[in-house]
Amino acid sequence: VQRSLVLVKPDGVRRGLSGEVLRRIETKGYTLAAVELRTATAEILADHYAEHEGKPFYGPLVEFMLSGPVLAVVIEGERCIEGFRALAGATDPTVALPGTIRGDLGRDWGLAVQQNIVHGSDSPESAAREIGIWFPNL
Ligand code: GTP
Ligand code: MG
Repeated sequence: VQRSLVLVKPDGVRRGLSGEVLRRIETKGYTLAAVELRTATAEILADHYAEHEGKPFYGPLVEFMLSGPVLAVVIEGERCIEGFRALAGATDPTVALPGTIRGDLGRDWGLAVQQNIVHGSDSPESAAREIGIWFPNL
């Protein structure tokens, strides 16, 4: 059975949306294998966002991710990687469909980086890599 790494980003934690995100995950039928509130570090984020290094939003993204605690979550379920990406919706909250986490709750207007509430692994390879970064003992 598949596992995926989900993060409730600092905007979501700050706005009190951690429970809402967990509720949507559990209502869908995925189970929680690990949940931990923690503050990211520059080292963790350099690993986690290695694919984005050099892009114009990279600096603001790392700064944003360090701006407060994140809820790091490992979810489990049949095809949960694709499934959570569908629950999350498109990266850009303005065009993410209503009914999705980002479409219902995310913001991008007037911000240096899209504050789109959640991260979700985008492939089995990313999931294994990211779970190793955030939960090396899992
Ligand atoms: P994650 O699940 O967070 O990885 O989102 P994603 O896979 O939908 O997007 P991607 O990995 O391409 O980008 C990572 C994060 O960088 C996004 O979630 C946004 O917070 C931010 N980001 C990505 N693209 C842009 C962009 O073009 N402009 C801005 N301002 N932020 C962006
Ligand atoms: Mg991504």
